[in-house]
Amino acid sequence: MKTHDSSAILPILILFIFLLINLSDGSGIAVYWGQNGNEGTLSDTCATGNYQYVLISFLTTFGNNQTPVLNLAGHCDPSSNGCTGLSTDITSCQNQGITVLLSLGGGSGNYTLVSTDDANQVAAYLWNNYLGGQSDSRPLGSAVLDGIDFDIELGSDNYWGDLASALKNYSQSVLVSAAPQCPYPDAHLDLAIATGIFDYVWVQFYNNEQCEYANNNDTNLVSAWNQWTSSQANVVFLGLPASTDAANGGYIPPDELISQVLPSVNASSKYGGVMLWSKYYDNGYSSAIKDSV
Ligand SMILES: *[C@@H]1O[C@H](CO)[C@@H](O)[C@H](O)[C@H]1NC(C)=O
Ligand SMILES: *[C@@H]1O[C@H](CO)[C@@H](O)[C@H](O)[C@H]1NC(C)=O
Ligand SMILES: *[C@@H]1O[C@H](CO)[C@@H](O)[C@H](O)[C@H]1NC(C)=O
Ligand SMILES: *[C@@H]1O[C@H](CO)[C@@H](O)[C@H](O)[C@H]1NC(C)=O
Repeated sequence: MKTHDSSAILPILILFIFLLINLSDGSGIAVYWGQNGNEGTLSDTCATGNYQYVLISFLTTFGNNQTPVLNLAGHCDPSSNGCTGLSTDITSCQNQGITVLLSLGGGSGNYTLVSTDDANQVAAYLWNNYLGGQSDSRPLGSAVLDGIDFDIELGSDNYWGDLASALKNYSQSVLVSAAPQCPYPDAHLDLAIATGIFDYVWVQFYNNEQCEYANNNDTNLVSAWNQWTSSQANVVFLGLPASTDAANGGYIPPDELISQVLPSVNASSKYGGVMLWSKYYDNGYSSAIKDSV
């Protein structure tokens, strides 16, 4: 009997390894979920198969000894303990390999950090109520989130790095991400991102005309992108509105994103994928781009 011809197996093996590397290059889509009750459940969101990261938004009040407030719009009412059922959704998302983070801040709210002590207190609260710690009043129930997103758009830029560092000190497996505006450096998150400890930075290339894509012209976007990828940010995502209604400018039609913009940003070794604001506005956008992200 003839032995296997290794010269025939080798090309197949190389092809297989190539496919494996390509499938596991790690880039993907992150989406904000939580600010509109009509955007579908968290479980539906994960079941689309379009997202690798879901950012539950927002914890709108915290810091300076304020009682933290989670706001999930029409989804459920945390003040009457009405959101603990999300634990099942969170676990099912995680079982599909999706990373689920709690997002702090947002465009409106009452949040601040006034000292390193304050940052440590907020870190303890987050650890006990959303991460691996323990509390008998966990707003999202027993599910352990993968980490914390910083969508800090108000107030000073102090102590956010302390908060991130304090979270990592509970466990290095706690992920921290940041959502700065595209003009570099960011007014609220620059000091924090400069620590180099953020795992993901999803830059908002919208609501900021000076760094948006417009009229088929990506000059301003690419120049801001290059500043971000030259910064201490480790993995950078292109944050985009999921529809024209989702922001004041910055929307990029899927075909233009794929043919013109992605090739100008995805060559960077820090490219992580695309972030979308938000699930509510994502009516076909993620489906149209996911195979190219
Ligand atoms: C924010 O919180 C502070 C301290 O609790 C309070 O004095 C202030 O009225 C709050 N502002 C808003 C807009 O809720
Ligand atoms: C976290 O731990 C590191 C190393 O021990 C320490 O330098 C840093 O100050 C800690 N951060 C906080 C906020 O406690
Ligand atoms: C694109 O935008 C840049 C920056 O605003 C401008 O300098 C350039 O002329 C534009 N390119 C075209 C082809 O319009
Ligand atoms: C960059 O994006 C283009 C368009 O989607 C794609 O053809 C190309 O393979 C991507 N390159 C990398 C390195 O991901």
